[in-house]
Amino acid sequence: MSELAIEAKGLVKSFDGKEAVCGIDIAVPEGSIYGILGPNGAGKTTTLRMLLGIIEPDAGTRTLLGHARPLETARIVGYLPEERGLYPAMTAKEAIAFMGALRGLPLEVGRKRGEILLRQNGLADYVDKPIKTLSKGMAQTIQLFGTIVHKPKLVVLDEPFSGLDAINQGRLESLIRDEAASGTTVIFSTHVIHHAERLCERIAIIAGGRIRFEGLVSEARDRLRPQVRLKTRSADGAWRSALPAGARETGGFWQFELPKSGIEPLLKALLDGGAGIEELSIERPGLHDAFVAIAGEAAARELAQSGSAELGVAA
Ligand SMILES: Nc1ncnc2c1ncn2[C@@H]1O[C@H](COP(=O)(O)OP(=O)(O)OP(=O)(O)O)[C@@H](O)[C@H]1O
Ligand SMILES: [Mg+2]
Repeated sequence: MSELAIEAKGLVKSFDGKEAVCGIDIAVPEGSIYGILGPNGAGKTTTLRMLLGIIEPDAGTRTLLGHARPLETARIVGYLPEERGLYPAMTAKEAIAFMGALRGLPLEVGRKRGEILLRQNGLADYVDKPIKTLSKGMAQTIQLFGTIVHKPKLVVLDEPFSGLDAINQGRLESLIRDEAASGTTVIFSTHVIHHAERLCERIAIIAGGRIRFEGLVSEARDRLRPQVRLKTRSADGAWRSALPAGARETGGFWQFELPKSGIEPLLKALLDGGAGIEELSIERPGLHDAFVAIAGEAAARELAQSGSAELGVAA
């Protein structure tokens, strides 16, 4: 078992008497890329802020890189907050160096590293340009460089992909992979699932302030059965009774979950019944479908509970 970069247990936070985070446990292995997924208002930002010690939890504990008090790790942690902001008059290079200096990096070193980061990422023309002359996405990229310029051991990114175009999203994915390859632990929040699917080994799905899933991406995907799509040449025949319950036809295609017994018994019935197979595919659902199912189930449960509570009946 590898060491844990983050271990949080039972984190709770209420705002104005309403629980925003209701007992969250998270364990992030050192050197891994970890995703926190959840819909708007799920509690992702509140959880990240508690992990970092920006806000104090009402209950629960968290250990960051072996420290029980997160603020002690300030010099070895990088944080890109959800609300972005740089000083508009500072140049790109100065802004990066300034953010590094806040984490204990000498300004001169920050300027040198900042210039290298900008040049390596196609922003050479902007090294000495003030932030106010840059586009929103460029400014965000510069803030990201400022987050990693002091070479932190743990990088925490709150919605880092939002506001970036497809090319810059791809660059950010590479940068996150490079950070992890050099031994840095990266944790990021998102509600755009395909980034997590490509980058993470482990994820947590949060909805309504609770963990609804924690584990490997492949385990989340395995929560749903593979989907079969089938088009036959003949529309009718005895073989139709071999289709599993719940099979539905749209646009000439039958769609259904792969039966537990596998595809073979159905294939035999199709062949024996002379159905003629025009198209057949079996697809393993992606993380997006698993996320929608897991978060959707949680939302439906909560709606049922709050409805019952309003009506004064037990859920
Ligand atoms: N400072 C605060 N004061 C009052 N309520 C807050 C505060 N911060 C968060 N909340 C509430 O806590 C809940 C969780 O918010 P949070 O920002 O953690 O969600 P999120 O998962 O990051 O959502 P998003 O995807 O929109 O960023 C929301 O209901 C929000 O209104
Ligand atoms: Mg948020």
